Amino acid sequence: MSRKPVIAGNWKMHLTKRKASSLARAVAAAQGSVESRRSVVFPSFVHLDHVRRNLRNSNVVLGAQNCWCKKEGAFTGEVSPYMLRDMGVQMVLIGHSERRHVLGESDALISDKVKVALKAKLEVMLCIGETREEREASLTFEVLARQLKALKVVKPAQTDRVSVAYEPVWAIGTGLTATPQMAQQAHAETRRLVAQLLGEETAALIPILYGGSVNPGNAAELLSQPDVDGALVGGASLKIEDFEPILAAAPTA
Ligand code: 13P
Repeated sequence: MSRKPVIAGNWKMHLTKRKASSLARAVAAAQGSVESRRSVVFPSFVHLDHVRRNLRNSNVVLGAQNCWCKKEGAFTGEVSPYMLRDMGVQMVLIGHSERRHVLGESDALISDKVKVALKAKLEVMLCIGETREEREASLTFEVLARQLKALKVVKPAQTDRVSVAYEPVWAIGTGLTATPQMAQQAHAETRRLVAQLLGEETAALIPILYGGSVNPGNAAELLSQPDVDGALVGGASLKIEDFEPILAAAPTA
């Protein structure tokens, strides 16, 4: 059993068309022909096509930050996972904490999105994680269990297109990082819960990424934990000087 490390940059609502394109080229150059890790970028919807062109002939995966839960219809302002697929997008983030807590997305909606995105043949990265209040009330594992139920819709033939990102809400954009031990504990529990939902074999293969103030200084230690299979990076993914050392910190297994 081996899980290839995944280093992903969530560019959130940042960058211009020109900056997104040049960052994409820099990530492609940093990834080079390395096969021991996967690298992924999640630009804004409006930059996807420019970034796709700039990633041509690279093995960097193109991802979107969100999608809607239907194939098509009267959903003004939303984007279908089928449209993403048609545009050459390979992966989609679902249930990011900013979608849950700023935009008010429910577990039910997130589960529907997972189902339709997988049907559209995208890879899905499901984001989960507790708030500070939930951690302080010792509810972390309960929150993870509740949020992971979104994976109940995954069919056996789709499991190789699923990954999970554990992002404690209190660590996102705050400079507060989970200690490697805290991350490992949450990741081990996540894997145990995935095993309950999708079986041991799948749980052993699914990449579980850590996100929340990952930077060049803490990446290597986080990534050395046995159940931490990668990093989902926000702020530090916006500059290649920060993102490249995080890519390089991925263990070569
Ligand atoms: P930061 O790395 O800026 O804390 O963001 C983490 C995140 O939300 C990635 O999806």
